[in-house]
Amino acid sequence: MPDLSGKVAIVTGCASGIGAATVRRLVADAARVLGTDIDEAGGRALCEDAGASFAAQDISDRSLWDAIVVQAVNDLGRLDILVNNAGMISGASIGEVDDDLWDRVIAVNLTGTMAGCRAAIRAMRDNPGGSKGSIINIASTTAIAPLPTDVGYSASKAGVRIMSKSIATYCAQQGLDIRCNTVIPGATETGILNKAEETAPGLKAAVAATSPMNRLADPAETAAAIAFLASDDCPYMTGAEMLVDGAMMALHPGF
Ligand SMILES: NC(=O)c1ccc[n+]([C@@H]2O[C@H](COP(=O)([O-])OP(=O)(O)OC[C@H]3O[C@@H](n4cnc5c(N)ncnc54)[C@H](O)[C@@H]3O)[C@@H](O)[C@H]2O)c1
Repeated sequence: MPDLSGKVAIVTGCASGIGAATVRRLVADAARVLGTDIDEAGGRALCEDAGASFAAQDISDRSLWDAIVVQAVNDLGRLDILVNNAGMISGASIGEVDDDLWDRVIAVNLTGTMAGCRAAIRAMRDNPGGSKGSIINIASTTAIAPLPTDVGYSASKAGVRIMSKSIATYCAQQGLDIRCNTVIPGATETGILNKAEETAPGLKAAVAATSPMNRLADPAETAAAIAFLASDDCPYMTGAEMLVDGAMMALHPGF
């Protein structure tokens, strides 16, 4: 298991699914964690149970991001890890999407992730002992092969992929010891997939079948990849993408 002792992490979207599993995993790996979520009751309960701190946050509110980072630094002493995990689906194709829905999914998934990276880098470059940090942004296989049924989700996650590479190269060229990588989950047994199932019955079984492993991922399996990228075990990994998709994207469409 990666050793995260001495490290401080922020994990967004901590109330449910991959975020909740990530809080538990990073705490188990000895990090001190601040979880955040728009779901205040759910996020607080999860963090209390996991042994993490909690702050209510809508990640799309750019004015709040500096305060979240300051809270982590003031309460826990520094900031080493940011997991930009919170996200939403819109469930609307190009034939259905309206301006408000498009603006919201971009504001949460893409702009919220950017604002988190920007605020975290400001803190990470001033860490005691010099710049140090690992940012993990959560994209989706829909950033590679988009959903016709969700244009905003697919586009926002594709934005997260390329933005993460821009951030990684910026930090490296600036001589900052701050890495930025993307985790690309496949179909994972979480709230977001259950919500999608409500509007598209049968979706869960269908997406499970698209993985050669013929099952959904457990969120803990995604959290394990996040913990590795958060650790000092991979200092030359930045601007990279880690698929946790049961080989879904590796499979030839004919098979
Ligand atoms: N589950 C999957 O199959 C799957 C696949 C690929 C990518 N992902 C991505 O994984 C990430 C985690 O999703 P999940 O599957 O665990 O879903 P989930 O619905 O179980 O959890 C998402 C969490 O984010 C929170 N959240 C939503 N909007 C927020 C906002 N504006 N500010 C703060 N918190 C907010 C929710 O309250 C919830 O706790 C998302 O970015 C999602 O797009 C999930």
